[in-house]
Amino acid sequence: TTGMVTLDPGFVNTAACSSEITYIDGDAGILRYRGYPIEQLAEKSSFLEVSYLLIHGELPTDTQLREFTQQITRHTLLDEDLKRFFDGFPRDAHPMPVLSSAVSALSTFYQDNLNPFDEPNVHLSTIRLLAKVPTLAAYAYKKSVGQPLLYPDNSLNYVENFLRLCFGLPAEPYEIDPEVAKALDMLFTLHADHEQNCSTSTVRVVGSSEANLFASISAGIMALFGPLHGGANAAVLDMLEDIRDQGGDVNAYVNRVKNKEPGVKLMGFGHRVYKNYDPRARIVKATADQLLTKLAPNDHLLELATQLEEVALHDDYFISRKLYPNVDFYTGLIYRAMGFPTKMFTVLFAIGRLPGWIAHYREMIHDPATKIARPRQVYTGPAERDFLEIEKR
Ligand code: SDX
Repeated sequence: TTGMVTLDPGFVNTAACSSEITYIDGDAGILRYRGYPIEQLAEKSSFLEVSYLLIHGELPTDTQLREFTQQITRHTLLDEDLKRFFDGFPRDAHPMPVLSSAVSALSTFYQDNLNPFDEPNVHLSTIRLLAKVPTLAAYAYKKSVGQPLLYPDNSLNYVENFLRLCFGLPAEPYEIDPEVAKALDMLFTLHADHEQNCSTSTVRVVGSSEANLFASISAGIMALFGPLHGGANAAVLDMLEDIRDQGGDVNAYVNRVKNKEPGVKLMGFGHRVYKNYDPRARIVKATADQLLTKLAPNDHLLELATQLEEVALHDDYFISRKLYPNVDFYTGLIYRAMGFPTKMFTVLFAIGRLPGWIAHYREMIHDPATKIARPRQVYTGPAERDFLEIEKR
């Protein structure tokens, strides 16, 4: 009860106020997936193993992980008709709306398997989404650069397959850099879930109407697209390049932020929940330090980002507002060094977040207490009044 309206348990659950999946302590900077600290999972686990953990609640046995991986590997192909779907978009289309539309379109090929209350259907949809979203993402990128779409290579692991679909060419063999594949796998793990964030809440709200899993994920992708949410990793790169092009004076930019110039924020900083350093940002920064030395030794944007962080962390404007780097502050630098264009950064976030969205959808749809999301409101408009003829207005 908020003193104005009483929230019924069903609404509270659907509006995503209770879950067993992820725990965050924003003041202490703690993040755990199903009780396991993100630092341990990032170091010791893999993205598919973490995906299994988020969706099923326990770390898989060797047999379970092997079966899960094999099922996903065998579903990476798209229906040939769906490949033509990409021809309908302009070359310079942003890949996020393309991906969201493609996920919706994907569901039209499985119309007999969309019942959200049929467990085998939901499991098959889970496998199909985890397997095909990277293929769809790679195809969105290939169309934007006018290159041919490759077929998945099932001899490669999940991330290697995605990298080859993005950067491979039919005319020559693609050489996987194991360090890049390992780093991208870990970045996907860091993004895999984050409690009731904007896009996950969107998935739960849409799913509460008994919309199928594909429809709910498609909606989540568009919520993630916003620059205040997943779009921030691309906005950080734009901000750093803008500072560099203006002469590299980070203090001048920080002053523009503090003066609250319209549209000027310290992108990649601040968080609705973390009022301390985002534990994921700490891990990403260590990866950036290590990987960029190898991949982009002359990329001065990391140096600029580190200077910007240093200034902000010691400036009372940010300290008093408890603004710290979040997961998006350093990820874009790594994605750029891997060869991804800025437009693909939020698509990479979506691939990482997919298992978390799926886990939350399944938790919500299986909970008997769930009701359709229907937020109530406090009406603040005009009191009752009579219609006014147009000549009297
Ligand atoms: C993600 O929810 C999740 O978990 C999201 C996410 C996930 O994994 O799903 O963690 C991923 O979305 C991370 C956030 C990425 N977005 C950005 O980096 C964009 C820049 N950040 C901000 O826009 C902002 O910090 C938000 C949107 C993230 C949070 O906005 P809030 O809730 O308004 O922030 P706040 O209440 O803490 O703000 C307090 C003050 C305000 O100033 P005053 O009105 O008190 O003077 O801090 C200011 C805000 O204006 N502020 C910023 C700022 N963030 C907050 N000022 C400058 N730059 C910023 N980045």
